[in-house]
Amino acid sequence: MGNFPANSPQNLRGIDVYKAFLDTQAQMGLVAALRDVVAAAPMFHPETRFGKQMSVRMTSAGRVGWVSDRRGYRYEPRHPSGADWPPIPEMVLAVWRHLVSDTRDPDCCLVNYYGEGARMGLHQDRDEADFSWPVLSISLGDEGLFRVGNVERGGKTESLWLTSGDVLVMGGDARLVHHGVDRIRFGSSTLLPRGGRLNLTCRVVT
Ligand code: SIN
Ligand code: MN
Repeated sequence: MGNFPANSPQNLRGIDVYKAFLDTQAQMGLVAALRDVVAAAPMFHPETRFGKQMSVRMTSAGRVGWVSDRRGYRYEPRHPSGADWPPIPEMVLAVWRHLVSDTRDPDCCLVNYYGEGARMGLHQDRDEADFSWPVLSISLGDEGLFRVGNVERGGKTESLWLTSGDVLVMGGDARLVHHGVDRIRFGSSTLLPRGGRLNLTCRVVT
């Protein structure tokens, strides 16, 4: 673990894009670790604050986990079942320590699963208290069409296909850009036996 490529990132509107950062072996190790996360904290279908069911399923690892329902978007110290969130997998922490900080670990690793037809609308990640820490994103499994807009709502956007093993760092001026996933190419990767896309986002929350 921690044997990562030294390539410098591409830049997409201030987001650092590390294509193929995790090799196949690392991706498979991460999927195995995520099985333990999901066993302890099963995926659930959150609702937006307007009561609409999201198409992605999600869970979290870490000190706190992100939840959404009619009470709004927030971090909670426990899974909706009442159980503690499981620890963030070591492989995820290794990527964070390599690309973001080796002195401060993330509080939350949100795990999103996109099945066939799932998508995520343009949004900002702004439920954290401190935006000086970047958000780190790891993509696994099927390809996803990631769209990036601007800090303000509206305006032109740019899109990029994220493939398994790609890592993004959204920090600095890009910390609050609008972003979302328009669609996935279901079945484009064999990493996940039942297909689909996993995205992990690590955040410092407090
Ligand atoms: C997110 O914004 O939480 C997920 C982004 C992605 O799935 O790539
Ligand atoms: Mn987001």
